[in-house]
Amino acid sequence: MAGLRFSRYRAPLLASAAMNPATNLVLVGPMGAGKSSIGRRLAERFGLAFVDADTFVEQRTGASISAIFDHVGEAGFRERERSALAELLAGDAQLVATGGGAVLDAGSRQLMRERGFVVYLSAGIDSQLRRLGRYRTRPLLQRGDREQVLRDLAAHRAPLYREVADLVMDTDGLTASEAAGRLGVRLAQHWHITGINA
Ligand code: S3P
Repeated sequence: MAGLRFSRYRAPLLASAAMNPATNLVLVGPMGAGKSSIGRRLAERFGLAFVDADTFVEQRTGASISAIFDHVGEAGFRERERSALAELLAGDAQLVATGGGAVLDAGSRQLMRERGFVVYLSAGIDSQLRRLGRYRTRPLLQRGDREQVLRDLAAHRAPLYREVADLVMDTDGLTASEAAGRLGVRLAQHWHITGINA
């Protein structure tokens, strides 16, 4: 697979054999980490097409995320999310902001690793609560104590975010613009495509 991927890109783009040669940038991390707001800014900087995976699932299914959870449950949503990622990541030069639970599915994790340079945007529970405060659309946050739900999700998912990540960045205390600026600098050092598009 690695050989196939290399053959699709022009050799001069590869700054180093050690760098991940993918042309897609994939953002993972918990709800409220800023994947979409940071992602939009980064996509502009690097000349990538921004895609929000949740929005793509909604377009493909014609249903809201909440309705999908209501009708086919979380497992059904994860299947649709994996199909969406497979379709999206078949393309190149996109910035894909994934949903916070996309890493739960082994197939989705494999797709991200094979077809993207993956950035884990981490956030502490306080930051998440603050950023999510106004929104009531996420099905997993409609039950129980919000803070406890976020803590439980983090305990389960943080190892999976780390497993897929090429790069980890903490977003605590940063605005979306600040985080995008810092991440852009780090990507310039770690991701080959920055050499041509940044
Ligand atoms: C989810 C996160 C949401 C969305 C869905 C499930 C999760 O995306 O995919 O509500 O399992 O954490 P965001 O991380 O963009 O909020």
